[in-house]
Amino acid sequence: MDMHFSRRQALQTIGGGAALGVLAGCGMKAGALSVSESYAKSAKKHPWTLGWRSTPARDLATPDMKLVSGKIPKGLSGTFYRNGPALFERDGVRLEHWFDGDGMVHAYNIDDGNVSHTGRMVRTGKYEREEKAGRFMVSAFGTKIENPAPITGPDDVNTANTSVLPIGGELLALWEGGSAYRLDDTTLETIGSKTWAAELKGMPFSAHPKIETDGSVWNFGQDVFGKRMLIYKISARGKLTGMHLMKNVPGGMVHDFCMTKRHLIFVVPSFQAVQKADTFIGMFKWLPQESQRVIVVEKDNLDNRREFELPPGFQFHYGNAWEDTSGDIRFSVCTGDSGFIETGARAVMRGETFNVSPARLAHIVLRKNGSAEISSALSDRATHEFPQFNARVQGTNARYLYTVGDNHKNQVGQMSMLKHDLESGKITSHNYGKHSIVEEHLFIPRPGGVREDDGWLIGTTLYLKTKATRLNILNAARLEDGPVAVFELSYAVPLGFHGAWKGA
Ligand SMILES: [Fe+2]
Repeated sequence: MDMHFSRRQALQTIGGGAALGVLAGCGMKAGALSVSESYAKSAKKHPWTLGWRSTPARDLATPDMKLVSGKIPKGLSGTFYRNGPALFERDGVRLEHWFDGDGMVHAYNIDDGNVSHTGRMVRTGKYEREEKAGRFMVSAFGTKIENPAPITGPDDVNTANTSVLPIGGELLALWEGGSAYRLDDTTLETIGSKTWAAELKGMPFSAHPKIETDGSVWNFGQDVFGKRMLIYKISARGKLTGMHLMKNVPGGMVHDFCMTKRHLIFVVPSFQAVQKADTFIGMFKWLPQESQRVIVVEKDNLDNRREFELPPGFQFHYGNAWEDTSGDIRFSVCTGDSGFIETGARAVMRGETFNVSPARLAHIVLRKNGSAEISSALSDRATHEFPQFNARVQGTNARYLYTVGDNHKNQVGQMSMLKHDLESGKITSHNYGKHSIVEEHLFIPRPGGVREDDGWLIGTTLYLKTKATRLNILNAARLEDGPVAVFELSYAVPLGFHGAWKGA
């Protein structure tokens, strides 16, 4: 690995902030309702809008969540962490894009038959400055803020709102354009921004690190405008053990990646940074004729790189990846176009429904001879997101993949958890019903378990009847039976993105 990454080189990456300096605003048509007015009007009529209500408090705590049904399975003990945008309004201004919200991290601690909840806003530099000023001061992702404060680098707009990584005795709150934030993994109090090495201060660190079975971590940070990517290798104890600067990476928005036992795989989508704009996302354009580039590097020699071409597309998330005996690389993806990130994630902030192409589950094969193929959808059930699998089979020909799916009618979100048997093509599912909006569920292996699906799925739902967030535990082997335990808060927390599990 290249450990000779100079400070000068580092500052030339996205940390230089040149791209962010051009952020300004997007106008509103005269006579149209503001985002705030539109949301308030819709919220009176449509319960689903609760998922995008600004957090009811900066900090939340419930020592004993109410047991709705079932009981905690024997052997399940630990903390389920989640992160997501939560603060959407200040001084009468409502953010225009879901991804703009300041992050709130949640800990659901499962211990001795009891579940407690702690939720805390991440005290980023942005949050602290805006809290003091009593107003939004900078544009983070998709909202123009009037009279913005000057920006010196990405961490000035860091919302730390996307995922979490428990490592080295701490919990990191992850974004993708700047530093991770260090939190106390019990109290969720913010310690400060994470610097992996002096020359990497403020460098982007993605929200989708990949964890080896030995606990060590791979991650990347992308500089879309410099067409570069930093690759990080971190030990299980949370120390940087290697980094590598990959050049000539086309400027498409890379959110996630996947890995086989021997390779890291990055797909550069057809949603590319092509123009100056008033907002970060405004710089990107959906290029429906532009093929996707797949970059494959070897973990043992990151300079050893192959490239493949795929039809135009955009995706947030990947399932597992593996190399078959012939040397072909195979992986699953929830793929679509830029409809949600450009349109859907704005509509929800206005309390409006939207109609964009759903993400579908597909398989990609990268052949040894340099060709690449994407399968047709494995299922015609619209929308698959938040793919998860048993981390013990990371990088192998795993049989099961779990996704959130089945769209609600006339409201936003999905209502089911699905289990895909990739060998037989069979799908089993649990439908939470029309009053629930389902969030990502993680697969937690049963201690001592051998079968790939021997474990639990843990995830939250927003239950619209009681206007409250629920924590659900399902037996992954018998998903169709529904939850083995359901707990409920007395309040609703905003819908979020990703989580992580830390066993007791
Ligand atoms: Fe994500």
